[in-house]
Amino acid sequence: MGRHPVYRSATVLEAKEEGRDYLDLLLREPEISQTTRPGQFLMIRAWPGVDPMLPRPFDIMQADPREQTLRLFVKVEGRGTALLKSLKPGTEVKITGPLGRPIEDFSCPSMAFLVRGAGAAAVVHLAEEARARGIGVYTILSASAASRIVCRKYLEPVSTELLIATDDGSEGYEGLASDLLDDLLRRKTVDRVYTCGSRRFARHVQRLDREGRIKGFVFLEGLMACGMGDCHGCAVQKNGQGGYFLVCRDGPHFPIAEVVL
Ligand SMILES: Cc1cc2nc3c(=O)[nH]c(=O)nc-3n(C[C@H](O)[C@H](O)[C@H](O)COP(=O)(O)OP(=O)(O)OC[C@H]3O[C@@H](n4cnc5c(N)ncnc54)[C@H](O)[C@@H]3O)c2cc1C
Ligand code: FES
Repeated sequence: MGRHPVYRSATVLEAKEEGRDYLDLLLREPEISQTTRPGQFLMIRAWPGVDPMLPRPFDIMQADPREQTLRLFVKVEGRGTALLKSLKPGTEVKITGPLGRPIEDFSCPSMAFLVRGAGAAAVVHLAEEARARGIGVYTILSASAASRIVCRKYLEPVSTELLIATDDGSEGYEGLASDLLDDLLRRKTVDRVYTCGSRRFARHVQRLDREGRIKGFVFLEGLMACGMGDCHGCAVQKNGQGGYFLVCRDGPHFPIAEVVL
């Protein structure tokens, strides 16, 4: 089976609310679940007709080729995600995927993930693959409060070490998760850091990358209309070399030195 994106139907198996405004969505889908690789995403349209007009992009958090399932983790933000929240098991939705560039390079002894909120969903598949290949996985989850920590149940089993930081100190370290990363880098040899869900953390990782302490990568989550490189609505500026990347075609993950944050 090829890796070209396909447009197809999927069936909702579970749509579980997590906390106030998160949704854990399990879909049965026989094709994308076989071909998707870490780092890729899909576009979903879960409403009839063209209102809202555009499908919404989400990371493929997990894919199980045997069960033919895809799992997404969604923060409810606006109209499209509110419609996803109202989905019931058995409903058919339309998805296009897998989209974006797969992560193929696992030639490193360890990786760290510095993620905030639903940004955690971007790294679950990658963390699972890294763990399966015997790569050390260090995960740092950041949230405003303990009740807002998400995806822990997916990341904990595949993490060599999982650390938590909350803004209000209701769980783990009280303060910036980037402090935990700095401490981790003092204690362990970590060569790559992937970050998602916070501009502030992305800038921190970019600084560490510039200082040569790690190789940094960022998952970008901008606006998208087509998801396939046609509309140029997702362009981000290249750092220092002029021109633009398209997040949907060239990303959504980038070496952090190469993009303007
Ligand atoms: C690659 C990628 C992966 C993502 N993964 C996740 C994830 O795993 N979990 C998660 O919670 N969030 C993820 N997001 C963010 C998620 O897509 C948005 O939160 C979601 O689209 C919001 O939809 P909404 O209808 O609820 O919000 P709204 O604010 O109502 O709508 C936002 C959407 O409107 C459309 N739109 C609005 N204005 C424009 C414009 N000017 N040009 C083009 N399009 C426009 C876009 O489709 C945009 O996604 C991801 C984003 C990207 C790009
Ligand atoms: S979303 Fe259309 S080019 Fe990226």
